[in-house]
Amino acid sequence: MPHTMPQAGSTWEDLREQMIARGSGDAKWRDGKTAVYVFNAGEDVAKVQREAYTLYMSENGLGPAAFPSLKQMEDEVVGMGLSLLHGDEASVGNITSGGTDSITMAVKAARDYACAARALSGQPNVIVPFSAHPAFDKACKLMSLELRRTPVRDDLMADVDAMRARVDANTIMLVGSAPSFPYGLIDPIQELGDMAATQGIWLHVDACVGGYIAPFVRMNGGDIPPFDFEVPGVCSLSADLHKYGYCAKGASTVLFRSDELRQHMVFDCDDWPGGRMVTPTLAGTRPGGAISAAWAVMNYLGVDGYRAKHRQVTEARAAIERGIEPLGFEVLGRPQLGIVAFRHPEVDVFAVYYQMFQRGWFAALTTEPRALHLMLSPYHQSVTDLYLDDLRASCEAVASGDSKTVGEARYS
Ligand SMILES: Cc1ncc(COP(=O)(O)O)c(C=O)c1O
Repeated sequence: MPHTMPQAGSTWEDLREQMIARGSGDAKWRDGKTAVYVFNAGEDVAKVQREAYTLYMSENGLGPAAFPSLKQMEDEVVGMGLSLLHGDEASVGNITSGGTDSITMAVKAARDYACAARALSGQPNVIVPFSAHPAFDKACKLMSLELRRTPVRDDLMADVDAMRARVDANTIMLVGSAPSFPYGLIDPIQELGDMAATQGIWLHVDACVGGYIAPFVRMNGGDIPPFDFEVPGVCSLSADLHKYGYCAKGASTVLFRSDELRQHMVFDCDDWPGGRMVTPTLAGTRPGGAISAAWAVMNYLGVDGYRAKHRQVTEARAAIERGIEPLGFEVLGRPQLGIVAFRHPEVDVFAVYYQMFQRGWFAALTTEPRALHLMLSPYHQSVTDLYLDDLRASCEAVASGDSKTVGEARYS
């Protein structure tokens, strides 16, 4: 029987209470015990998100003539993103609803660009490293494109030679991640850029996770390789505001080297009785709150605020890396941002995950290799000792024969 609507409405006070009670079974992310799905940048940032969101939550970014305020905020957010990611006078972009939206629209732009620029002789294809996000699979499925996943190198980064070997006349896009979600490592974007430029193929950098942290880690002294428009072959970038931009959910940026490239993303329809409709991204209605909250958080934190928050993230990561080593874990590669994955040569990490889950921790796993995975927030700096104590206890429980385990690593 489907859930039915109540005949009479309830008071907001009752509903509010019910809603809070429902959340009691959710991951305890406000305590810092969740390291996937959510970003905890502190109560001050949450307050700005909340209040800025509600100020424009009914307005619609679909209508810039009706809401020039939102258009102006979007332009300024995109401008801030571009200025952090080596955009120049020619570069442009839009706010989308999230990473998957940004990636889908970049793929669409690359496909339409390729169709306009040259004659394709069969099904167009997109070449990605094995570590690329499934958003590319989804985009390719939606647009009937072939996705070619190529093995990564032993160091878990994109293998440019393996990608080159899969290129043919119908290749419309090459992809590198900065960083990849599973490993938190930045692919060799410079090398990919050289290949893309030589072959005349669109290079997209998926900086959904890294776009709003890597520039600040570099400012903090981190040794971050070129990964954005600084690399000449990069045509487009996805960078999520609702991840390390610490903005409210439902906000990402998709950025292009030039408006000529961006124009291939825009959908323009005049063939219906409602009048001409021009939409840059996948959405029709575009939630004003996601745009206004992004604008407010970016201006609230500023460069200094982001540098300070991201320093907390990288210090938390370094503390965890130091603490897991004596437990026998091995970090995958040399992560530089907020994601770290680590495997164990002897202990079954899926069983350790189960133990950590019993202790209230919610994080992720990788499958190749099998590893524990954390996507850290500033707040985690205050719980690294607790995490390491629980990890030690979890490893001991597994070593003493408690073999209960999670069946699989999944995100749904
Ligand atoms: C590297 C990377 N790209 C794309 C995405 C998709 O972003 P979203 O979940 O906002 O659609 C994610 C999400 O975690 C990601 O880590």
